[in-house]
Amino acid sequence: MLECGVEITHPERTRFGDQVHVGRDCYVSVWPEGELVVGSRTYLGRGSIILAHRSVRIGDDCLIAPGCHITDVNHGVAAGRLIREQALESEAVRIGGDVWIGAGCSVLPGVTIGDGAVVGARAVVTRDVPANAIVVGVPARVIGCRKVPGEGGQG
Ligand SMILES: CC(C)(COP(=O)(O)OP(=O)(O)OC[C@H]1O[C@@H](n2cnc3c(N)ncnc32)[C@H](O)[C@@H]1OP(=O)(O)O)[C@@H](O)C(=O)NCCC(=O)NCCS
Repeated sequence: MLECGVEITHPERTRFGDQVHVGRDCYVSVWPEGELVVGSRTYLGRGSIILAHRSVRIGDDCLIAPGCHITDVNHGVAAGRLIREQALESEAVRIGGDVWIGAGCSVLPGVTIGDGAVVGARAVVTRDVPANAIVVGVPARVIGCRKVPGEGGQG
């Protein structure tokens, strides 16, 4: 389901599974040669932004809170030339299944987030996140991992 105000460029390069929910005012920019794949039952919170120049794939059953930015693309920043005239550089982003990304996070190019991981609010994810890890901060660092209820942690 797409709420109102959602904008998707090149929807033909976008594949949504069943029961995907895209919140109000999300902006999804997929380049003509890029791809975005979103798994079933994944929720994209209000005002989130996805930029897929090459490839962004998000698994099933993810919760992406409002105001997140997920991008697979950087501008070239070589000295001596205008940044806006330099080629874009992209590296695929992979987000596994059952991942919860807290409000206002950024996921940067080349990052893989493992299945079941939790990303704390406002984190900037610059490196890969192991499956079931809990990461927070700028840059995001592991502070723990999900535990089975009754064994001393959160479920
Ligand atoms: C990441 C999160 C799930 C961790 O919860 P938790 O396991 O209960 O962690 P705690 O509250 O025990 O905090 C553990 C440590 O991490 C720090 N921390 C927790 N969340 C943080 C965050 N988002 N950014 C930076 N530090 C954070 C705490 O200050 C604490 O540090 P300390 O040990 O030095 O005191 C939670 O804090 C969070 O950010 N949730 C996202 C909420 C959100 O965006 N909701 C939107 C609805 S979808």
